[in-house]
Amino acid sequence: MSRKPIIAANWKMHKGPAEAVEFIEEFDNLIGGSSLVDIVLAPTFVSLPAVRDALVNSELIQVASQNCHFEEKGAFTGEISIGMLQEIGVDYVIIGHSERRAIFGEDDRLINAKAKSLHAAGVKPIICIGETLEERDANQVENVLRRQLKEGLMELDGEKMFETVIAYEPVWAIGTGRTATPGQAQEAHAFTRKVIGEIFGEDISAKIRIQYGGSVKPANTAELMSQPDVDGALVGGASLDPGSFSEICKNSTV
Ligand code: 13P
Repeated sequence: MSRKPIIAANWKMHKGPAEAVEFIEEFDNLIGGSSLVDIVLAPTFVSLPAVRDALVNSELIQVASQNCHFEEKGAFTGEISIGMLQEIGVDYVIIGHSERRAIFGEDDRLINAKAKSLHAAGVKPIICIGETLEERDANQVENVLRRQLKEGLMELDGEKMFETVIAYEPVWAIGTGRTATPGQAQEAHAFTRKVIGEIFGEDISAKIRIQYGGSVKPANTAELMSQPDVDGALVGGASLDPGSFSEICKNSTV
């Protein structure tokens, strides 16, 4: 089963509009006119319009936001609706990132509500899952992933799952420099694919793309990507520099 790799840059709370556009100019030069992988940039909300404008002639790079609200509109101070993101031309929305879960108290039910609204609007979710170090040490990896998948993907439309992306990001590997070994990543990805198969059937589980995230850098990309169930990367720190992110994209075709 060949799945096109998808490499996404999660810039978190970095890069305002000017810096984001500067990145794109440099990155475009480095990556050249073609790529064998899907490339996605996820800037902050305020940088989305500038990024979209800078990419107006690019068929290579797609745009994601790092979050959304599940309601269409209303009294939700500080929130952004999916319709507003569509107006800017956002292709993907990252939901359920562990920083959203741990720092902002998001749970599987809320993530499920966002996923449903994204599917209804026709925007592709990148749904993050992953265990903490305590959960791994307590041999709870499979239980945690199963719960996050069962609850986070509850009642989602099977047809829309083909374009949904799952990102496995072990919390202990995020921003720590401690990458999961290729074997650990493969094990978690294979399990994730199995659970998706139980919920949505084999056709979807064979086609859905599962990204790995957590201290991905140019030097470890190829080995991670060579694992049969690793279909891409969600990159934090190493995506902030156009040089290292372009290397990661280039090293992703194995
Ligand atoms: P790092 O690549 O900085 O570890 O961050 C990973 C991440 O959280 C991407 O969403």
